[in-house]
Amino acid sequence: MSDEAVQSTNDDASMCKRFAVQQGYWKDPYIQLLVKSGQRRAPEINRGYYARTQGMHTLLAQFLQLNKKACQVINLGAGFDSLFWRLKDEDLLPDLYIEVDFRAVTSRKCQNVRIRPKLTQGVQETCEGQSVVIEDAELHSPKYHILWGDLRNVEELEKKLSKVAGIDFSKPTFFMAECVLVYLHHDKSDPLLRWINTKFPVAYFANYEQVNMADKFGIVMADNLKTRGCTLEGIAPCKDLDTQKNRFTSAGWQGADAVDMQTVYASLPRNDVYRIERLEFLDEMELLDQLLKHYCICWAWNDHGNIGLSSIKFGG
Ligand SMILES: C[S@@+](CC[C@H](N)C(=O)[O-])C[C@H]1O[C@@H](n2cnc3c(N)ncnc32)[C@H](O)[C@@H]1O
Repeated sequence: MSDEAVQSTNDDASMCKRFAVQQGYWKDPYIQLLVKSGQRRAPEINRGYYARTQGMHTLLAQFLQLNKKACQVINLGAGFDSLFWRLKDEDLLPDLYIEVDFRAVTSRKCQNVRIRPKLTQGVQETCEGQSVVIEDAELHSPKYHILWGDLRNVEELEKKLSKVAGIDFSKPTFFMAECVLVYLHHDKSDPLLRWINTKFPVAYFANYEQVNMADKFGIVMADNLKTRGCTLEGIAPCKDLDTQKNRFTSAGWQGADAVDMQTVYASLPRNDVYRIERLEFLDEMELLDQLLKHYCICWAWNDHGNIGLSSIKFGG
């Protein structure tokens, strides 16, 4: 799959998120400033996106609370994610929040931030007197950086993170990847996970992507994506929950666990799930179950500081 095609997966994800927000699944006043239009999607897709955003947020919020926000967050393949502004509104901003994506994606995102006063102002408010710099398809500010780079080139990534964004390798750091590693061949995602493991003694990784891809539904799903020009290069570790966990432990991480999105969905606050289940009529319950079974969140930790990272999980 070409890099251009991989980059365009961001358009699909962000348009779906915008549509789900428009339908009332969760609140995000910023996504509409980053994405021109929402893409109408079936109710089961919207519920899937709801479980995805709430699930990732559940782990991240625990990490930020455990570290009393004295930590760093690195969003790999962040696309048009509006998380920085949402964390700010929730008073959950870490010391440093960094996003990495291809230049073609960061360039469009930076342009949107530049022309939308609500987005620029949001960053400016975290600058403590310093100014926000947007140039060369990147954004730099004391707490927020948008960097371009290729996750397959770990050496360059390390240089940018330390020299440009001033990352502190010794600080607790949360890595997140939402539907990103699946586009990197295992030969490329493996060095990335090994590099994080060796450089960051206190790190947590939350990875959302496909799972159970070797069963009948999974094979049809991958074939459908392929006919739409979207080949999942990194599908090998998506065979089941064990292969998802093993990719981390075999890359040297201390521990890993994973659950499918059906389990994540069942762990979300009941009153909110009750609310969203009333937003749209769903007659394809079976399809929703299958979709939720074919995505997962896998989390891994490296806790050489013994700060309790293994306690961050669902229903924990
Ligand atoms: C499906 S989109 C998801 C975007 C965002 N994480 C979200 O959930 O809304 C995948 C993103 O990963 C980025 N990506 C994939 N491979 C990458 C690589 N090798 N280097 C940098 N970014 C990459 C793509 O450009 C795209 O923005």
